[in-house]
Amino acid sequence: MLLKFDQQGSLFEQLARALKREILEGRFGADSHLPATRSLAAALGVSRNTVIAAYELLRSEQLVAARAGSRTRVMNNTVAPAVRASRISIRAQSRFSTRTRRLRSVTLSGLKAGPQYNLWYGDALTRPQLLASWRRKLVAAAVWAGSRYPSAIGLPSLRSAISKYLLRRRGVSCNPDDVIIVSGTQQALCVVARTVLEEGQSAVIEEPHYELAQHALLAHGARLTSVRVDSEGLVTAELPLRPPRLIFVTPSHQFPSGAVLSLARRLELLKYAAANDCWIFEDDYDGEFQYGNRPLPALRSLDVGERVIYSGSFSKTLFPGLRLGYIVCPTGLRNDLCMAKALEDLGCSSVEQAALAAFLESRQYEKHLRKSLAELRNRREALLDGLSRHLAGDIDIADSSSGMHLVVWFRRLSYRGLDRLVAHALEQGLGIYPIHPFYQSPPPRPGLILGFAGLSPAQLHTAAALLAGCLNKCRRPD
Ligand SMILES: Cc1ncc(COP(=O)(O)O)c(C=O)c1O
Repeated sequence: MLLKFDQQGSLFEQLARALKREILEGRFGADSHLPATRSLAAALGVSRNTVIAAYELLRSEQLVAARAGSRTRVMNNTVAPAVRASRISIRAQSRFSTRTRRLRSVTLSGLKAGPQYNLWYGDALTRPQLLASWRRKLVAAAVWAGSRYPSAIGLPSLRSAISKYLLRRRGVSCNPDDVIIVSGTQQALCVVARTVLEEGQSAVIEEPHYELAQHALLAHGARLTSVRVDSEGLVTAELPLRPPRLIFVTPSHQFPSGAVLSLARRLELLKYAAANDCWIFEDDYDGEFQYGNRPLPALRSLDVGERVIYSGSFSKTLFPGLRLGYIVCPTGLRNDLCMAKALEDLGCSSVEQAALAAFLESRQYEKHLRKSLAELRNRREALLDGLSRHLAGDIDIADSSSGMHLVVWFRRLSYRGLDRLVAHALEQGLGIYPIHPFYQSPPPRPGLILGFAGLSPAQLHTAAALLAGCLNKCRRPD
C-alpha cells in the first residue's frame, strides 16, 4: 500500500484523506481491517497519535468502525469502488456545453506579466485619487449597507442615482423601477438572451464585433447573422429580410472599429425593430468618453417604440474588477428581466452597490469622469501625435472621436509580417494586438487595436516610436 499525502493541512488530516482514497477506490474492501495503529505509524515514520487521530476522523465520517480491543474495520456499506474522475474524459453534458466547447477562449484581463509598453485595450484608466475615494466610500458602505439579502434587481438608492445620471449625461429618461443592476454588460446580455431568445432563433451582431457578446449569444444557442459596419456604423440597409429576434449594437462607439452610428441609421434601426418586432441590445460601454463637442445621446433616447434594452457598465468609467453595470428595461420586458436576474444570483453585492450609490449621489463620479476624460484626451492626442510622427507613411488611422482605443491599418504589411511584428514587439517590451480576431474572416489589410488608457502620454510617445522601429525590422517581403 502506497499512501499519497497531498501536503495540504495537518499530517493526520493528510493521512485520513489518503486512507479515505484507498477505501473509496476499493483497495480496502468492505469489512477489511485497517493496519494496526502502531505498525502503520512505524511504517510511515509518524507518531502513533497521528494515526489514531486520522482513524478517529474516518470514524466520524462513518467510513470505519472501531470497537475497544479490536482493529479498526472498514464499514461494509461504504464502498462501491469508484473510478477516479480525473481518469474520465467526460463528453459535453448539455447542448450548452457542446456549444461552449466550440468557443475560443477569450479574456479581457490581458497578458499576465504585461510588457512595459502595453497597448492592451481592456485596461481602464486608473487614477490613484479614484482608488482613495473609492476606498472611503466602500468602508462607509460596509457599515450601513446592511447584512441582509439585497433586492435582487439592485439597491433602490443606486437605481435612483443611475436613472438621474442617465438623464443628465446620456439623454435617457427612465424610472428607477426600469433599472436593474447587473454584474456588467456580460451578465446583462446573458440575462437578456435568456429572456427574449429561444435556442435556434436568430440574432444580429456587428461585423467587426465584440467577441464576448458573440460568445454569449452562441452559447445561448442563437443563430448569428453579421451585418457590416462602415464609417457611419451598422449598415442598416443590410439588415436581414428575415427579421432576427435580437440585434446587438454599440452605437455610441462601435466596437472595435470606433465608428459612431449616424442619426439617420439610428432612426432606420429603430424603424426596422418596430416594424419587425425585434429587440435591440444597446451596449453603451464607453459612451461617456467622447472627444467631440457634445456627446451624442444614447440610442435609447430616441426609442419611442420601446424596442431598446439599454445596457451600461462601470468597467470603463471606474474599473472592470468592480463588476457592476445596469440594464434599462423596456416596460414590457421589465418583469421577465427582473425574474431572470433574481434567479441568476439573487442580486449583486450590496456593499459595492451602496458605495457606488454614494459615489454617484455625491457627484464625485461625474467629477471623476471629467478628470478621466481630460486625461484620456491627453493620452489619445499623445498616441495620435506619436503615430503621425513615427508611422505617417505606414498606417491609416481609423476615424474615431471617442472611447479608449484607436484602430490603425497597415498600408504595406502581410499577415505573416504582422505575426513577426507582434512577436518582435513583445521582445522589445511592446504589447500590440491585432484586430482581425474581431472579424468573422480577416480583413484584406492587417490592423491593430491600440488601447491608450493604460499608459501615460510620455509612454505612449515611446510606444509609437518603438512600434515604428519594430515595423522597420519586420517589413521584409514574405
Ligand atoms: C464592447 C464592450 N462592451 C462591454 C464591455 C464591458 O463589459 P463588462 O461590463 O462585462 O465588463 C467591454 C469591455 O471591454 C467592451 O469592449
